[in-house]
Amino acid sequence: MSDTPLLEVEHLEVLFPVRRGLLGRAVEHVHAVDDVTVALSEGETLGVVGESGCGKTTLIRCLARLVESTGGTIRFRGQDITRAGRRELGGVRAELQMVFQDPQASLNPRKRVVQILATPLRRRGVTRADVQTKARELLERVGLNPEYLNRYPHEFSGGQRQRVGIARALALQPRLILLDEPVSALDVSIQAQVINLLDELQDELGLSYVFVAHDLSVVRHVSDRIAVMYLGKIVEVSPAEELYTKPIHPYTGALLSAIPIPDPRENHTRTRVVVQGEPPNPVAPPPGCRFHTRCQFASEICSRVEPPQVEYARGHMAACHHPRNVSAQEISSAFRSETSPRSAGQELPAP
Ligand SMILES: Nc1ncnc2c1ncn2[C@@H]1O[C@H](COP(=O)(O)OP(=O)(O)OP(=O)(O)O)[C@@H](O)[C@H]1O
Ligand code: SF4
Ligand SMILES: [Mg+2]
Repeated sequence: MSDTPLLEVEHLEVLFPVRRGLLGRAVEHVHAVDDVTVALSEGETLGVVGESGCGKTTLIRCLARLVESTGGTIRFRGQDITRAGRRELGGVRAELQMVFQDPQASLNPRKRVVQILATPLRRRGVTRADVQTKARELLERVGLNPEYLNRYPHEFSGGQRQRVGIARALALQPRLILLDEPVSALDVSIQAQVINLLDELQDELGLSYVFVAHDLSVVRHVSDRIAVMYLGKIVEVSPAEELYTKPIHPYTGALLSAIPIPDPRENHTRTRVVVQGEPPNPVAPPPGCRFHTRCQFASEICSRVEPPQVEYARGHMAACHHPRNVSAQEISSAFRSETSPRSAGQELPAP
């Protein structure tokens, strides 16, 4: 895995206007993605989790340039693509593909698979004469019988349809695939098969993934790192395994509490946290820490001061005034460390 980031996202913001009145003026905004900073290396998988409405889809649609950002920057291989037009985006658009949650809805029901694959293949420069051969190769690569080329999407099972969706993304020879809950609509046994396929393709083709999921059980075995989102913000990002054994943010603890634990030893290291109530309105997010209205560890400072992102261990950052599973020594060294520039001048959090 190369150290050069393939993708660098800094302070990304997506505000959706809420229009009212006869003139349709934007009176308020939905804070769908707010000040998100994260990077991805070549060959790496970043899992993104969080409850419904926290901004996962908006984030990756924005990375794919399907949604315009209202602030911040996106760099792909060092090139600023935040506001690049169609022409400036050029080949980058092909290198950055999306796979959607619902393969039924994302594939045109009136087109045969060969036609669905022909569009990106032709865009890649494959000649009309070679389209059939390349399309067959793609089907084989995703584990489908190449004889299925003339089938319509409704003639496949859910898992097979998602394989067609993956083949369509591969047709443009991408470097990065943004996967929006790619297995949520599938049976558990089929989920594992599709995840294995994604794993094999990554090894074979050196792909990078951003893998969005609702809960932490799905992303555990596919991710190198995991980012936890809450109400538009990344509240914790960590090497994958460490997030499960040493969650720092109470919201991560709450997400973990919601999944079954196969290894009883983890029960001892994990603080059980239960999240109460509904997520706040993203049009008017709470001041201070956005999670304070539902957090059992909230104190007075939490409703007043937004907690900074602090790096407590290598690659393990969290934004919380009262971090869990970290010692007083780890807190003070994190705040002394130059690797946590955003912590400079902040109050020391209480363990
Ligand atoms: N086009 C839009 N216009 C206005 N608001 C939007 C639009 N798209 C999304 N939103 C709002 O932005 C917020 C984030 O939505 P998003 O779909 O990104 O969440 P999500 O984490 O993907 O949720 P889910 O897990 O249900 O798919 C939500 O409050 C949603 O209502
Ligand atoms: S900053 Fe406060 S409210 Fe927010 S997660 Fe930490 S303890 Fe809870
Ligand atoms: Mg979504």
